[in-house]
Amino acid sequence: MTANPAPTWHILGSGSMACLWSAYLLASGHTVRMIRREPPPRAEYHELVLETAAAVREFQLTLEARDAGDPLTRLLVCTKAHEVSGALRPLAPRIATDACVVLLQNGIGFQDEAARIAPRAQLYCALTTEGAYLKAPFRVRHAGIGHTLVGGYPAGDLTRTGQLATELRATGLEIRVTTAIDSALWRKLAVNCAINPLSAAHGCSNGALLDEPARHAEFLALCREISAILQGLGRNELALEVEADATAVARATAHNRSSMLQDLDAGKRTEIEYITGFLCRQAHLAGIASPRNDALYARIRALEPA
Ligand code: PAF
Repeated sequence: MTANPAPTWHILGSGSMACLWSAYLLASGHTVRMIRREPPPRAEYHELVLETAAAVREFQLTLEARDAGDPLTRLLVCTKAHEVSGALRPLAPRIATDACVVLLQNGIGFQDEAARIAPRAQLYCALTTEGAYLKAPFRVRHAGIGHTLVGGYPAGDLTRTGQLATELRATGLEIRVTTAIDSALWRKLAVNCAINPLSAAHGCSNGALLDEPARHAEFLALCREISAILQGLGRNELALEVEADATAVARATAHNRSSMLQDLDAGKRTEIEYITGFLCRQAHLAGIASPRNDALYARIRALEPA
């Protein structure tokens, strides 16, 4: 990574996380260009509004075509998990050697696809607890202050990750660094497997998985199965913590509708393939029974648009 004080960040996607990070990077003096699926005929600008508890701020955001030409040195991928490969592939010729490519999604499986598409880039995964939603296109509300964990993928080079974290910290957002992103991804996967498909299947908030006795019993049985799968896969420590982790997250986000439920409500495809789908495939490969997860996977696929 060079010592450029404010390098250009390209943002892939235009949802709440894409707008949130664009706004914070712009506010910290970076040049930001958002690459959209529908390419503008040439670079154009769009007003971007960031609402926080303290203020409403406006920025000029540059929109860019996928084939704009100049090399990408820092790319933050904010698409849904199932869109990562399709969005990255057309950009591959523009990704500079040693570019920082940061993946900010739920789930596991797409990271290896991204590594194959951009083999010369430094790949990072980021897991965030920042809460944000779009009030309208390009108008993002930063609703909950959280933190973002960043680690090199597949293995963490602490010096480079530290440099990236320092750069991202200029935004004022809390950035934490890990050399073990793999464990963090699996921990998040287990929580998402417990909360997302069940809340989506019942059409209920995360907290409602704990409140209503029948749903809570289903939630606990699902946690036990996820735990057994993790144990069978040799992830013993994580296996012991599934129920406590998932319960804590469901409680902390009690009023939230999970991202999977929001996707179904919006008539969109969900990230099930990279959440429960990934877990079930690992279980099947290892010969571990996963009937509850299999059933939830089938249920969510049936609820997705054709
Ligand atoms: O995907 C989501 O909705 C979130 O990751 C989580 C943690 C389940 C909270 O809603």
